[in-house]
Amino acid sequence: MTSPDLPAELRAALEAKLQGFSRSDATERAAAISKTYRDGGGSAAIRSSTDALAYALARMPATYAAVIASLNALCEIRADFEPSSLLDVGAGPGTATWAAAEVFSSLRSFALLDANDTLRALALDLARDSARLRSADYERGEARATLAKADAADLVVASYLIGELGEAEQQTVAALLWEKTRDTLLVVEPGAPAGYARIIALRERLIASGAHVAAPCPHDGRCPLAGPDWCHFTQRLQRSRAHKQLKGAELPYEDEKFSYVALTRQPINQRPFRVLAQPTVAKAEVTAKICTPDGLLITKVPRRDRESYAVARRWRWGDGLN
Ligand SMILES: C[S@@+](CC[C@H](N)C(=O)[O-])C[C@H]1O[C@@H](n2cnc3c(N)ncnc32)[C@H](O)[C@@H]1O
Repeated sequence: MTSPDLPAELRAALEAKLQGFSRSDATERAAAISKTYRDGGGSAAIRSSTDALAYALARMPATYAAVIASLNALCEIRADFEPSSLLDVGAGPGTATWAAAEVFSSLRSFALLDANDTLRALALDLARDSARLRSADYERGEARATLAKADAADLVVASYLIGELGEAEQQTVAALLWEKTRDTLLVVEPGAPAGYARIIALRERLIASGAHVAAPCPHDGRCPLAGPDWCHFTQRLQRSRAHKQLKGAELPYEDEKFSYVALTRQPINQRPFRVLAQPTVAKAEVTAKICTPDGLLITKVPRRDRESYAVARRWRWGDGLN
């Protein structure tokens, strides 16, 4: 399992960048950018190098943690997956590229695409001292046009991108992401009902184009959840001092909610059942909500079944159960 916290090299690069900036400007811009996101806006609000750094300090640790959690789930199912090429679409400051590099030592080539020149410049700066990432190829342009020209890759990632596209564009970009996927496509979105709805729509469309789900679902069928429920997970990450200062936060950690799907070209033989919420551990029993190939299961493991109870006590939200 790879740690959800930013690797030391990236943390150091971010903190070094902060030296040249006014912390109060960065804090102010981070608050404005967060507000834009909360109001349903996107990263178009990121225009200056202060904006880009503020975004990276405030959001990159959390989106990184969500990508790592999704890749950890994928690796549990596909321990033999050794991608050599990565395509990171809507790469922003390079978050998913850093995450994939950390998880897969097999990666040799890194291609990134994004429409935002300021975030691209920051990504290149952050990667400058990284032996593996300094030669990454980062194209600037709209996803649709740049993807059409991009080379296919073993692993394609779109992290927190789809929600920034219009509905018609989401469909076109989803098809292009799949077209450029040699082996596995990972799509991550915020863990809110709207993010889940986008994941489910893309999942259904790409299954119809021949994709198979590797994670989180143990099946390629329809999602058994019905509104107002939605499938999402949570990943805890530590906040650095700069991160806390920028967010005006006291807690040394935060929990990022995310929804995701990992789709593969080849069917997966054995997919674990998935724990969909934090199980309730009571004296008498453990109650857990589990996604299975036959639908949703609310399972109760009684204490008198001592061995099973001891195992169930350790279940965590997001775990795959074999
Ligand atoms: C919320 S940020 C996520 C950045 C990064 N993937 C992460 O997880 O931290 C969304 C990114 O998508 C990019 N983006 C939005 N619409 C785009 C489009 N039509 N074409 C290319 N990039 C786009 C933005 O510029 C921004 O960098």
